[in-house]
Amino acid sequence: MIPELKTQDYLIPLSRSYIPPRLPFREKELSELEFFYLTGIKLESFPTLLLIGPKSSGKTTLVLKLIEDLRIKLGLRSVVVDCSIENSEYKVVSKIINILGITSRKIKGSSTEELLFFLVKYFNYDKLKTLIALDNIEYLIVDNKFLLSALLKLDESFKEATKNVALLFTANEKIFENLRQSIKEFQRVPVLKLNKYTKEQVYNILKYRISLLTLHPKFTKRSLEHIAELSTNYEDINLAFSLLSSIILEANRIRKEKIIKSSVDEVFSKMIISYNQESSLLSDEEKLIFNIISELKKDRSFSQIKSSLLWKAYREVCEKKRKKLISYTKFWNILVQMERKGIIKRSVKSFGRFGRSTLIFVPNEPSRA
Ligand SMILES: Nc1ncnc2c1ncn2[C@@H]1O[C@H](COP(=O)(O)OP(=O)(O)O)[C@@H](O)[C@H]1O
Ligand SMILES: [Mg+2]
Repeated sequence: MIPELKTQDYLIPLSRSYIPPRLPFREKELSELEFFYLTGIKLESFPTLLLIGPKSSGKTTLVLKLIEDLRIKLGLRSVVVDCSIENSEYKVVSKIINILGITSRKIKGSSTEELLFFLVKYFNYDKLKTLIALDNIEYLIVDNKFLLSALLKLDESFKEATKNVALLFTANEKIFENLRQSIKEFQRVPVLKLNKYTKEQVYNILKYRISLLTLHPKFTKRSLEHIAELSTNYEDINLAFSLLSSIILEANRIRKEKIIKSSVDEVFSKMIISYNQESSLLSDEEKLIFNIISELKKDRSFSQIKSSLLWKAYREVCEKKRKKLISYTKFWNILVQMERKGIIKRSVKSFGRFGRSTLIFVPNEPSRA
């Protein structure tokens, strides 16, 4: 398990719930969203939009940032429900009612349909402009499809109630086609698509977030950049933040006057072992290979292993497990990826007339004293 961080105060800008002052690479999208909702809400036209993108593309953060901006500009009230937590239609509507602070005896024992009707009646007399954001609706659509279509056509039957309401949905892009086919009301909802951040962008985001920390001056600029570099290879930015925080916490403990690049490397390679086994930082293939390396290491008490030996061992494991064998090129690419993640190090060594071979090094298990 990823060690639960005792989030020291100074690490808060790297926590999941923190909303950064700026969203680099998403400024255009943010102003598009702002314009869309500002206009729609002023025209009382029940603005509705679907924000899609892969994991870690900034969907949730954009929603939170938009809400903050609209609250300042319009005094907009907002309700955000994370459908990966409130994962049934009933729970979603109950949550909305709950957040709005509506209390009534009628709520208890009502069906989802009744609750929604209840909500509509509430909007009829409460004229406060409200944005309802449902985050991660991919967790809902496997359910039945009542709620989303009902919400989308709310303005057809309840014109008056929806004058002050706006809707915003976010979903993983993977379900987009499916969503538009299964809920036909979505076909006329405008879509804003976020692209996956490039590695370069992730690096810059990490660097930016690190710059928000007040760190001890013993961290050099170069060492901080290096910390960002190391975490750039993880697709999930929140995981990268958690990794960053651990590295920083650990590096802080080093009794050195200056924390330089090599100290960071040292901490990182110790760190990565405890992150490895269960965490989603590694793909299944990477975990398998990592385990084979560990076994080989135990066997021979070497800290370095020839890549040809590893390939042989890998093939044997696949045979034993009746697993489909991947090509050598693919295997090689996985090793490259593992090196980028700091799990292994490779170096080419010449064996004289026996040719050259790549040796694989693995950091040693941290002593758990
Ligand atoms: N442009 C950005 N600038 C700064 N931090 C960002 C940016 N985009 C995403 N993040 C951070 O990356 C993490 C993942 O973003 P998130 O909004 O949760 O993505 P999604 O909801 O698409 O999975 C969050 O901690 C968020 O604060
Ligand atoms: Mg999200």
